[in-house]
Amino acid sequence: MFPHKAYKILIIFSFAVFLGGALTVPFYYETQTLWYKTGVDKVVLWAGQLAGLLTLVLLVLQIILPLKGRFSEDLFGSANLMRWHRINGILIVCTAISHVVLVLAPEGINNLPIGKKYWPEMTGEGLFLLVLIMVLSSRFRSVLKLDYTVWRTIHRPLGYLLLILALIHVLFVSESFKQGIPRVVLLVIFTGLALLITVVKTIFWRSKS
Ligand code: HEM
Ligand code: HEM
Repeated sequence: MFPHKAYKILIIFSFAVFLGGALTVPFYYETQTLWYKTGVDKVVLWAGQLAGLLTLVLLVLQIILPLKGRFSEDLFGSANLMRWHRINGILIVCTAISHVVLVLAPEGINNLPIGKKYWPEMTGEGLFLLVLIMVLSSRFRSVLKLDYTVWRTIHRPLGYLLLILALIHVLFVSESFKQGIPRVVLLVIFTGLALLITVVKTIFWRSKS
């Protein structure tokens, strides 16, 4: 049998490779928006794209962390997984803010993407709002006097909805993901994630009943 420590190293290493791979996308698959920018504007937009990709990777991690899989709980401990889930929520807010500011700054704050034509950007806006609502309602649940069961009933589906919105935003807003390897990898990862969630939930409900 593979020892626990080896599994942990393998998982952390795979995550690092996944994150590193994601951050190479804007350099290998340049968007048209970058072609027309020079100097500081170009660097800022690049940084904004990187911040968007980092937010996406952290969002995928955020959904995996609270899944009550026996394998992950045995390996890392459920208390640790939940602690990382709470901390990661704050990180997501920070990277999402960087993404929004850096991506919009080169276009000028007077050219905010609002209107039918900009629906992929507007899914991003909805996404950002949902992230804020989820993190604030979780961190300040007692201040807001939200009952735990009510909070959980809303928190779970919103979390999964958020992931679907993220997929739509990325697939339609960025030319890097219009075709080729980034699109295929993104779709494979999201299909794998949907399968993982279905398997873990099925095992959980079977063992409960
Ligand atoms: C949690 C929220 C969000 C996530 C996870 C996210 C993720 C991403 C990712 C991964 C990209 C592709 C980067 C690339 O081309 O390699 C992207 C692009 C973009 N996002 Fe977001 N985004 C979010 C919120 C927003 C918001 C609120 C806006 C506001 C308008 C926005 C506007 C854009 C734009 C304009 C692009 C295209 C940039 C370009 O290539 O010129 N995003 N986003
Ligand atoms: C971007 C932000 C967040 C997303 C997308 C998210 C997503 C999720 C999802 C999908 C679940 C359900 C997992 C399952 O099906 O069992 C969950 C559970 C949970 N989340 Fe979050 N979450 C976020 C932020 C937070 C924050 C900031 C906190 C706390 C401060 C938090 C605390 C919890 C707790 C305690 C659970 C376990 C609920 C239970 O099963 O009893 N979450 N989260």
